[in-house]
Amino acid sequence: MADIDGLKDTKNFYPDIPAAHDGFHLKGAHQLDWGMRNRLSRVFRPATGRTVMLAIDHGYFLGPTTGLERIDLTIVPLLPYADALMCTRGILRSTIPSTFGNGVVMRSSGGPSTLKELSNELIAVDIDDAVRMNVSAMAVQVYIGGEFETQSVRNMTTLVDMGLRYGVPTMGVTAVGKDLARDARYLGLATRICAELGAQVVKTYYCDEGFESVTAGCPVPIVMAGGKKLPEIDALTMAYNAVTQGAAGVDMGRNIFQSEAPAAMIQAVGKVVHELMPPTQAFDFYLTLKRERENAAARK
Ligand code: R5P
Repeated sequence: MADIDGLKDTKNFYPDIPAAHDGFHLKGAHQLDWGMRNRLSRVFRPATGRTVMLAIDHGYFLGPTTGLERIDLTIVPLLPYADALMCTRGILRSTIPSTFGNGVVMRSSGGPSTLKELSNELIAVDIDDAVRMNVSAMAVQVYIGGEFETQSVRNMTTLVDMGLRYGVPTMGVTAVGKDLARDARYLGLATRICAELGAQVVKTYYCDEGFESVTAGCPVPIVMAGGKKLPEIDALTMAYNAVTQGAAGVDMGRNIFQSEAPAAMIQAVGKVVHELMPPTQAFDFYLTLKRERENAAARK
């Protein structure tokens, strides 16, 4: 047994030295097989190595979340601006047009509703169905420090094993319980565990202090989770900070679909993620698009 108590605490993540990835646009992926790299390239733009992933999987434990009551009306119009869509298979089959050609990251764990202990999840999708639906990746919640931590890690490693068989990457989603701090120490622990145990992509929250050590310490791409709805300028600032501190893009839900102008917001997020547009400029861009849309609606 490792001497956990005796671990040295001073760490150096060399955040200024990017990990080598041999010409492929994603770190940690250059030694994967062709199918897996092809699927990852549908999620992360080869030109920038980053993604604007639109998360709309909330219904798997929250039911009809505000903004997602009618996905056909509110989300389908946003699809042209999303590099990838994160959703459940129920929504994919029932509502997302099969002509959608960008990445699909399928929510592949579930079980408890918001009324129960959330960490008590199980795998909720068969790999055969993920392949049948031609998804680009599977997403699984990992509850480090949660009541069912080991079970959720096991869910992830099982999906990783199944995914490796067919060339489907797995995205480990570090779930933060109510009692867990979202600081660099915790996020660094959770993201590294996901990567060490095989996740090809990790989704995690942003933290104001030390986020660059979280991204540098994770050998595979990290996408930043959006979290609760913030004022647009704050959400754009958080996205900018995350990508300039090493995140390979964002996986945002409520900060896009609960915005006053979701189409304008997702395009502004795209400017930040792919062009590293500073947040104040991206916010102006958002306001301009929003105004144009309001004017067009007034003319009708
Ligand atoms: C979070 O872990 C789940 O996947 C969510 O349903 C979703 O991704 C959250 O998105 P947001 O926090 O940006 O609304």
